Amino acid sequence: MKQPFDVSLDGRVAVVTGAAGVLCSELAWSLARAGAKVALLDLNGAAAAELAQAMRGAGHAALGLEANALDRASLQAAADEIAARLGPCDILVNGAGGNHPKGTTSRETFDAEQLQDPALTSFFDLEPEGVEFVFRLNFMGTLLPAQVFARQMLGRAGCAVINISSMNAFRPLTKIPAYSAAKAAVSNFTQWMATHFAPAGIRVNALAPGFFLTNQNHALLVEEGSGEWTPRARKILNQTPMGRFGEAHELAGTLLWLASEPASGFVTGVVIPVDGGFSAYSGV
Ligand SMILES: NC(=O)c1ccc[n+]([C@@H]2O[C@H](COP(=O)([O-])OP(=O)(O)OC[C@H]3O[C@@H](n4cnc5c(N)ncnc54)[C@H](O)[C@@H]3O)[C@@H](O)[C@H]2O)c1
Repeated sequence: MKQPFDVSLDGRVAVVTGAAGVLCSELAWSLARAGAKVALLDLNGAAAAELAQAMRGAGHAALGLEANALDRASLQAAADEIAARLGPCDILVNGAGGNHPKGTTSRETFDAEQLQDPALTSFFDLEPEGVEFVFRLNFMGTLLPAQVFARQMLGRAGCAVINISSMNAFRPLTKIPAYSAAKAAVSNFTQWMATHFAPAGIRVNALAPGFFLTNQNHALLVEEGSGEWTPRARKILNQTPMGRFGEAHELAGTLLWLASEPASGFVTGVVIPVDGGFSAYSGV
């Protein structure tokens, strides 16, 4: 992939959680191409290590580590290793996040049939552990890495945290109440943190990706077998003025702008939609 524009993050240390995922691996590549030394953290340590090896093969400084964004001890161990091998963190991208089937209703709106049919998950069947999983992964999975890595930013100029929110934070999407509310919490926390750390010179912003076809949402958007768009995918495309899904590399320009102090040094506390116009369109 080509860089969207030239920006220098030379010598900066960027930490990306969920780095082996579809969107964050692209974001990590863009940080590396801009000159950052990149630490790739993922629950899937083998995938993070493989990605780091590919980046080093392309001439970048990269370190892949297994780390759990929900476990402070695991994050601290990674932070210590990163500080020793690359230096203290300047840029944190909180990418780990996602949904869970047990926090998802079968239908968009309520009807009495759902109460009779055991194959359908109504609002009343949502499993507390599914809902809690989604809240923990998205909210605590943002707060805990921020606690560990923002500490390394104190007293150093030009540091930034970039969280990953979502379209559903502005207005909830049907079927995914837990994921929508958890991402709303991420947006809210982005503003809170931006305010809290402004005196320390740490900027905190978020990307709100629209719809990108990834592992996480594949089953919701593509019919198994036929490979056709599901009715939900067609609905999304009809509501997206640009009429298509986003591609992962299209998030990179906004990330690089937010990561670069000379480019966005007076920008903090914003949640930027990258969504082909989805959030602007009223549907009429
Ligand atoms: N795909 C989309 O259309 C879309 C839209 C809006 C927002 N997002 C958000 O963007 C981010 C990346 O999404 P994606 O589609 O690339 O996801 P993905 O499922 O492809 O990747 C997620 C990665 O996070 C890792 N991970 C999961 N739990 C973890 C944990 N506890 N600690 C560390 N790593 C963990 C997984 O191993 C995986 O590599 C997420 O926060 C997601 O909610 C995605």
